[in-house]
Amino acid sequence: MTRGRFITIEGIDGAGKSTQSMKLEELIASRGIRVRHTREPGGTPAGERVRELLLSSDMGPTAETLLFFASRAEHVEKLIRPALEAGEWVLSDRFTDATYAYQVGGKGFPGERVEELERWTLGDFAPDLTILFDIDPAIAAARLAARAGDKDRFERMGVDFFTRVREAYLTRARACPERFLIVDAAGSPEDVTAEIAAKVAPWL
Ligand code: TYD
Repeated sequence: MTRGRFITIEGIDGAGKSTQSMKLEELIASRGIRVRHTREPGGTPAGERVRELLLSSDMGPTAETLLFFASRAEHVEKLIRPALEAGEWVLSDRFTDATYAYQVGGKGFPGERVEELERWTLGDFAPDLTILFDIDPAIAAARLAARAGDKDRFERMGVDFFTRVREAYLTRARACPERFLIVDAAGSPEDVTAEIAAKVAPWL
């Protein structure tokens, strides 16, 4: 049995990841490949409960980081690894890069602590491909403002915060160009879909 591929989707809030990740799921499935679409925080029953807590309750960066990793450990053990080993592909909206971008880049939580947690909970387990939606935080903020419904506590952070998160994502992407595909999320949805399809095509 060939192991499936693990693809993650990253970017600041308001970058338009949700629509594109659904399109990518459709593209993969259209080739007859079984694909699991999941998300972080969340993805398992316990993880979804942790998600509710993370998005609604105010807490410090240590508690927050530990909870993201608690959800992630459960996610990898119960869903991601078993699916990949069964030959399915897994597409996750966010994964560990988000902790480096939001908690380390955005909030100043120490990067060595996140590295320790990553080693401890995941070993060398990492995505095969990460699609980073890059966008000017001011454009992303305008998109979020136009969206119906209440914002969660991360979405309420300001442009300065998202500028730091964006920089942290870009720094990680530049350090690991073989894993990352950076897409210009300010481009038209059609262009973004086409760019992603071209990158994933060699694997399909
Ligand atoms: P997301 O699912 O993208 O929110 P939405 O459903 O509104 O699209 O992600 C939830 C929030 O959690 C998002 O603002 C980013 C944040 N987050 C972190 O701060 N660290 C992490 O490790 C992860 C996975 C997410």
